[in-house]
Amino acid sequence: TFEIALARSALTLQVPAGKTILQVLNENGITAPSSCEQGACGTCLMTVIDGEPDHKDVYLSSIERASNQKIVTCVSRSKSQRLVLDI
Ligand code: FES
Repeated sequence: TFEIALARSALTLQVPAGKTILQVLNENGITAPSSCEQGACGTCLMTVIDGEPDHKDVYLSSIERASNQKIVTCVSRSKSQRLVLDI
């Protein structure tokens, strides 16, 4: 389990094992764009303000991955206990 803090709405949500960031957002009434939901298309990409993503996608380049500034929310998780997202 890790926590996502939504910078623009001042909301903090828990992402348990077995659920994706995208699912948790949708369950909480936050409509986020998505398409493939397999980490390939980049539709669900979000900006990371703070925290360290655990990248599981095949969309980001190695440079983007290393910068920790973007996250593919349909598959990726977090290495840090908390991720702050620019949504
Ligand atoms: Fe395609 Fe997330 S919906 S990468």
